[in-house]
Amino acid sequence: MDFYQIKGKNPLSGMLTVHGAKNSVLPILAATLLASGQSTLYNCPELTDVSITMDILRELGCQVRREGSTLVVDASQPTSAQIPHHLMQEMRSSIVFLGALLSRMGEGQLSYPGGCELGPRPIDLHLSSLRALGAEIKEQQGMLIAKGGNLVGKDIFLSIPSVGATQNLMLAACGAVGTTTIVGAAKEPEIIELQTVLQKMGAKVWGAGSSVIQIEGGYPLHGIEHHIQGDRIVAATYLCAVAACGGDVTVQGVSTQYMGAVLDGLERAGCHLQMGQKQVRLQSGGKLQGISMVRTAPYPGFPTDAQAIFMAALSGGTGTTMFEENLFDSRYRHVDELSRMGANIQVSGRVAVVTGRELHGAQVNGTDLRGAAALVVAALSAQGESQVTGLHHIRRGYERLEQALRGLGASIALVQRT
Ligand code: UD1
Repeated sequence: MDFYQIKGKNPLSGMLTVHGAKNSVLPILAATLLASGQSTLYNCPELTDVSITMDILRELGCQVRREGSTLVVDASQPTSAQIPHHLMQEMRSSIVFLGALLSRMGEGQLSYPGGCELGPRPIDLHLSSLRALGAEIKEQQGMLIAKGGNLVGKDIFLSIPSVGATQNLMLAACGAVGTTTIVGAAKEPEIIELQTVLQKMGAKVWGAGSSVIQIEGGYPLHGIEHHIQGDRIVAATYLCAVAACGGDVTVQGVSTQYMGAVLDGLERAGCHLQMGQKQVRLQSGGKLQGISMVRTAPYPGFPTDAQAIFMAALSGGTGTTMFEENLFDSRYRHVDELSRMGANIQVSGRVAVVTGRELHGAQVNGTDLRGAAALVVAALSAQGESQVTGLHHIRRGYERLEQALRGLGASIALVQRT
């Protein structure tokens, strides 16, 4: 079993460039299915979730190849509308292929998606909104069998601004006749990027970034070239590591305008920040101060994906912070592991109260992507040595995390045991 061996308390310094955003590249890869031609995507990180998405496209009959960080997808002649169960199980975002398949092939057959264990993650909004466009979707023994050769644009109201449901609808609506208006759409930067990609392909889409998105469907779409934006959650992870360990690091390659809530939290916790458009320099004395309240919320609120990581950074500081997790039911699974490192965190329902104190090294296990990254952040700031297992979660969202951190002066080794 692989693990990270981490010796804490090294201050971090230097500069690093974050890789492309996982949550952008996954729906954009699904969108390449809509284009009858070749698409070239730059800045695509080597992550397991990306490899699985490439495998899904291959199953559908697309030619897919990687050249360094560039992915080339040729979706000229897809041959199948079925995604095998073993690929669907690997990650939740595979559900966006339902909209893409309906749009391009007029049908799709796939199983319920898997993904991080964050509590119940229903897909009711995905299904009801696709049905509203005219798709017939049968649910049979864990399978979704969809037919939608004649989708028609509609006004769709999303009762929750679901990122995945918004993306699914945008993809499906490109293949529908007439105009679809999504009211209550998610506003995340990754939605704006999907709109940019669809527009480049020739689709008529506008409004992304606001809560109303309109799609005029039925236009033939063609291949594109696109550079994937930097990953704001990966950037937040490195910043939280520096904040907790102390040091002076510049993180490049990410739009700081999309990181407002996290940067504001770090500043209030005592870090000094200097912002450029695509880079941020963070200086920290290494002991964060508690801040009154961190409430996760859809964008532009504090991202749920950064909750565990920020909590880890604050755990080794001083003072008290109250977290409220409002997106997912089981997103405090890192808390027990942080407690093994000495963290003082009391959880009650969706609230976690963190009282900062010195952390010590321990053997800990990550059970989801961001929770595992949070344990790395805590271990880097703790006194003594830690072993962090659960690295397969980390590889879903971080490309060579240990190398990037070593480049900043962290003592972190990847130990591979068979
Ligand atoms: C995306 C991100 C994930 C992030 C999450 C919230 C990707 C690949 N993943 O996940 O990293 O944590 O946004 O920012 O981009 N919901 C329903 N019914 C549905 C769909 C969602 O009730 O049909 C609920 C969910 O249970 C959750 C909330 O809506 O409570 C938000 O989920 P959603 O925005 O859909 O998250 P994902 O798209 O799965």
